[in-house]
Amino acid sequence: MSPYDAVVIGAGAAGLFCAGIAGQLGARVLLIDHSPKVGEKIRISGGGRCNFTNRDAGPANFLSDNPHFCRSALARYTPQDFIALVQRHRIAWHEKHKGQLFCDESAEDIIAMLLRECEQGNVTRWQPCAVAGVRQSGDGFEVDTDRGPVRSRRVVVATGGLPVPKIGATDFGLRLAREFGLRTTDTRPALVPLTFDAADWAPFVPLAGLSLPVNITSGDGEFLEDLLFTHRGLSGPAVLQISSFWRGGTPITIDLAPGVDLADVLKAAKGTSRRKVANELPQHLPARLAEAWLAGRPLAERPIADTRDKDLQDLAASLQAWSLVPNGTEGYRKAEVMAGGVDTKGLSSQTMESRAVPGLYFIGEVVDVTGWLGGYNFQWAWASAAACGRAI
Ligand code: FDA
Repeated sequence: MSPYDAVVIGAGAAGLFCAGIAGQLGARVLLIDHSPKVGEKIRISGGGRCNFTNRDAGPANFLSDNPHFCRSALARYTPQDFIALVQRHRIAWHEKHKGQLFCDESAEDIIAMLLRECEQGNVTRWQPCAVAGVRQSGDGFEVDTDRGPVRSRRVVVATGGLPVPKIGATDFGLRLAREFGLRTTDTRPALVPLTFDAADWAPFVPLAGLSLPVNITSGDGEFLEDLLFTHRGLSGPAVLQISSFWRGGTPITIDLAPGVDLADVLKAAKGTSRRKVANELPQHLPARLAEAWLAGRPLAERPIADTRDKDLQDLAASLQAWSLVPNGTEGYRKAEVMAGGVDTKGLSSQTMESRAVPGLYFIGEVVDVTGWLGGYNFQWAWASAAACGRAI
């Protein structure tokens, strides 16, 4: 008889949490990771303070080919449930912007908490230990590892997404899903900076480092967040958010002065201001941005009082509906998550078990459920792990 009821592959956020829950419910669990350390992405998350959940997380904050799939798991393990766990472990936390909850001290506190939960569930941990493959055998599976073959009735794949390969990300989960006949949806870097052709971007390079609040749209996405100009393109929360909605070859549209009707304001200034356009615009926008925007335009040197309404309207439109087509993203090296993954049509939304291969489960980022920026991806890791951990 196998000494394990379940082998969990991947000791990141989802794998650690799932192993702890299943162990505490009585399952004999083996948790395997090929990295020497557990939870590397937790460690680097949230600038080292781990934005571990979002108080307001709900299905509307996730992208997936099937937006309904995440509902059940999110409803059965909520941000409040995770906050209660964090409080039970006496981890101090605070709320930042828009419901985002961070550790006061360090992301290491969350890792230590997950390890204590695993200890309480008598979880066995093997690492570093590579997994070469998984195959069906009898009424369960045989998992080929560096430490020899392991038999188990259940296998949970929690190997995460493709971002940041240098800390252990692999396509193992996607490949394994396909080997077992599960479909995977197209994958792409998400929550990632966007890049532009060097020649097109040259006028904006002097703005590198400038940050300002904007309204940004692309596809079905729209966010009011801070934008950051970089040497190669655009970043900051606004762009990371919209990158998940952006598809290659399509434009993003940015309002650089949200909440203001620039055309109205500039036209009104005609009656009261003796300034040139170049001196009037910085009254309503960061000076560096106004300067770069007007560079080389004859309009800049014109007194605003003598400028045609049409020219002011065009100037305002160029700033408030700035439409530009990125040439790509900074890729998996800089992405926070992978969009796409194991197709949810092949999984039970109650347990994360494969419909076609009983006993095989997929949880966390490897599944085609991608959260917005702001603690949502960890909430999905916890919620999908809880759904699975309670079932195995
Ligand atoms: P995760 O990547 O955590 O774990 C996968 C594990 O599987 C790893 O330990 C890996 O070593 C292991 N593994 C991979 N292949 C294997 C193989 N072949 N054999 C054995 N083991 C294997 N989210 C959020 O909500 N708030 C935040 O603050 C941040 N911040 C953040 C910052 C940065 C820089 C990044 C890159 C990402 C974030 N995220 C985030 C996203 C979040 O980290 C991510 O969504 C979760 O960690 C996903 O949890 P998983 O357990 O699914 O994968």
